[in-house]
Amino acid sequence: MVVVIGFVEMVRVTGYRSQLVIFVSMAVFNHQAIIKVVISVNKQLSGVSTTQTAEAVQVNEPLNTGHLNDLLRQQLRPVKSKQAPKNVNAPLPAEVQQKNLLSIVDESVGSMLGESKLNRVVLHEQLSKLYYQQKFIYEQADISPALRKRQFIAQSGLIMSPDNCITTQLDDLRVNAFVRGIDQALSHKFTSHQGPLHIVYPACGPFAPLLLPLIAYYKTQQKYTPQQLQITLIDLQEGAVKSLEALVETMGIKDYVRGVLCIDALAYWPDALAVDMVILEAMQHGLSSEGQFCIARHFARLLSPQGCFIPQKISVRAMLNSAQKEFVEQWKNSEYLSELDMDPAIKSARIDLGEIVSLTAESLLTLPEHVLDEHTRLIECGKATIPMLPEKCAEQSLLLCSQIDVYGDIRIGEYDSGITHPLPDPQVCINFIPRENRPGDLLLNSGDTIHFFYRLNGLPGFLATCYEGEVSHD
Ligand SMILES: C[S@@+](CC[C@H](N)C(=O)[O-])C[C@H]1O[C@@H](n2cnc3c(N)ncnc32)[C@H](O)[C@@H]1O
Repeated sequence: MVVVIGFVEMVRVTGYRSQLVIFVSMAVFNHQAIIKVVISVNKQLSGVSTTQTAEAVQVNEPLNTGHLNDLLRQQLRPVKSKQAPKNVNAPLPAEVQQKNLLSIVDESVGSMLGESKLNRVVLHEQLSKLYYQQKFIYEQADISPALRKRQFIAQSGLIMSPDNCITTQLDDLRVNAFVRGIDQALSHKFTSHQGPLHIVYPACGPFAPLLLPLIAYYKTQQKYTPQQLQITLIDLQEGAVKSLEALVETMGIKDYVRGVLCIDALAYWPDALAVDMVILEAMQHGLSSEGQFCIARHFARLLSPQGCFIPQKISVRAMLNSAQKEFVEQWKNSEYLSELDMDPAIKSARIDLGEIVSLTAESLLTLPEHVLDEHTRLIECGKATIPMLPEKCAEQSLLLCSQIDVYGDIRIGEYDSGITHPLPDPQVCINFIPRENRPGDLLLNSGDTIHFFYRLNGLPGFLATCYEGEVSHD
């Protein structure tokens, strides 16, 4: 069973008949495992009142208060049974569970690392089988419903609930790129590395999907031993940690695991073993909501001098395009979303304003920071000047477009995963005045320069400002 979670972007485009509501239903909340996209466009706002639209956004957006309120209500009036509903099937004997899991691990990881050309349908089928095996173990683990659903905001950003995170295993192109990238990085590292190589995977989620299957594969294939590889898994959610412990046990890979830590990744400091590799993927599109930037900054400081950060680079560019073309017309007849499936004409109609940030282990240490108070820091990013636009051109939306270089030439392109979908900034109004003024709107015209900052607080994301000279450093 796949949970379909609606995802809504409201794109405010112009001052006259101007609201465009795009419903993208994805089986995996911002991660694109499902490939079915339902786009409903309401150009004229017919039948959709402002209130309805606002409610739709409330219900569907990831950072909503609904989940938090539900949880608080449950805490005020707890239901009698605190046990998670167990899988209706009787638990399988441990050896059978292990055999089933390891067999699909071998099949799926083996084909990701194999030579044959990527077949997305086959990859997706294999990851689905892997997902259901892991989900079975997750459901058998002793995790209360409250822990499974717990979702909150921490210093680094949104902390998604374990129930919402497990489906990231299905995000096929992303998982494939990371598994291949990590394997390639390890084979390069082992040409020179002495002693056990220590991999730390902060914000790994309940399945640690980018690493645990790979480690189980190494064990069954006898590729790397626990004397060569040691891993530390970190997650702030107790439910995720319980799930990780159950998976490590079932996969029979305890010897590889240095620790499964239930802490905020920002509180991690290495012990005797230096950090040789960091694997981090805690992001949503346009680096919004979750703590990727903040956690990456912390770990860039902890990485050993020859250490390797996976992904090696996240690049975000500012672009302009018509939202109608970019998000609606482009996908009208598509069954799949991926960079390869983008419409060449619509892609080339974009106006590229340039890269606004490039996150690498090195840049993370040097990007200028402005400390506003103990809760808010702003990282200074790039500038982009809005060119003169033809008078008759369609209304332009500001898009934040990400690409991820996982390792070497292995990359995740735009639309390959929910994390690389372009993020529109509906508050930046270019060459138009919105009908209704909302707090946070930024009215800009051709010739203006946008100066981007990144908010490091509980609500992380890019902040567009109008450039009016350099900002003084603290
Ligand atoms: C989207 S999920 C898992 C993503 C996983 N890395 C993957 O690749 O599929 C995000 C996980 O990161 C964890 N997380 C987010 N911020 C964290 C932080 N500051 N410290 C520890 N865990 C964090 C959440 O608890 C959640 O389990």
